[in-house]
Amino acid sequence: MLVDTFGRTATDLRVSLTDRCNLRCSYCMPPEGLDWLPKPEVLTDDEVVRLVTVGVRDLGITEVRYTGGEPLLRRGLPEIVRRTAALAPRPQISLTTNGIGLARLAGALAGAGLDRVNVSLDTLDPAVFKRLAHRDRHADVLAGLSAARDAGLAPVKINAVLMRGINDHEAVPLLRFCLENGYRLRFIEQMPLDAQHGWSRDGMITADEILARLGEEFSLAPDDREDRGSAPAETFLVDGGPATVGVIGSVTRPFCGACDRVRLTADGQIRNCLFATDESNLRDALRGGATDDEIAERWRKAVWTKRAGHGIDDPSFLQPARPMSAIGG
Ligand code: GTP
Ligand code: 5AD
Ligand code: SF4
Repeated sequence: MLVDTFGRTATDLRVSLTDRCNLRCSYCMPPEGLDWLPKPEVLTDDEVVRLVTVGVRDLGITEVRYTGGEPLLRRGLPEIVRRTAALAPRPQISLTTNGIGLARLAGALAGAGLDRVNVSLDTLDPAVFKRLAHRDRHADVLAGLSAARDAGLAPVKINAVLMRGINDHEAVPLLRFCLENGYRLRFIEQMPLDAQHGWSRDGMITADEILARLGEEFSLAPDDREDRGSAPAETFLVDGGPATVGVIGSVTRPFCGACDRVRLTADGQIRNCLFATDESNLRDALRGGATDDEIAERWRKAVWTKRAGHGIDDPSFLQPARPMSAIGG
């Protein structure tokens, strides 16, 4: 198992399949994009499947989430999903995506064994979308969302990051839209993970603010039907339920004490935390001929040294060198 010195066990593996993206959301990437990883450094499909296999078969991973950058840009994705679904014990398989391309791929991915998707949608207004993401692709995201629902990739969760003066007037309309369409909405506090280092505490819309805005239109009650476990989102029943809304208060309501995550980057580095400042290189081990047992041992060591939490509030906090787009959410 993948345990750390604080007694947490990592069972949720988040695999970034590419650092590239077809959007430029300002909380993540500058409009001009970034220098992408050179192709030879990126794991091949076979290498991804080998590492995921070691995680699932030997290290107690029970959930595999594919992320990016934008994971739908990875041509081999359906086949990677199919091979993941063939593992024993079969893990839960999910995808975090911006939704562009999902209209075309949702059916194939569901057929390959994908269980569910989380899609980013920060606005209902195509003009705001273009300002925020620097691309005119709002309609593609909406089409992707309904295709995911129609393909049975349920629950379809929506992630929304509110930014002051840009889309923070949309909390209520976004929730109405999700209630009408059967999507599970979660609002996310913006974290200091953008490549431009533009995050500021004042710019961040906090969990308290989000709940206050929603509370003007809806009645919200903590959803204690299920134990929250390690979920980042606090969930609330909307107008008595059964519909819910979630708030992911990574900064003001951190959940690191219950964290069960470990990350694999597209270039084969294990990160024991989103905010880790060091990584463990499984790619070079693998390419150097390491056995599965040797890889597993290196992976265990990488998780063992996980810190208690992200430390955003510590005076000594340093943003990791790798931006969100190269880690995956
Ligand atoms: P599910 O609820 O199981 O679908 O997973 P999830 O909410 O973790 O998935 P998703 O990839 O959609 O992430 C949603 C938001 O939570 C993103 O903004 C992530 O960056 C943030 N998040 C995910 N994992 C972590 C984490 O380990 N730590 C922190 N602080 N934030 C996280
Ligand atoms: N802070 C919080 N969430 C972010 N995401 C991307 N960058 C940030 C950030 N700086 C979200 C995206 C996506 C998920 C993977 O992470 O909106 O839904
Ligand atoms: Fe886990 Fe690190 Fe996220 Fe905290 S910040 S929940 S420790 S990955």
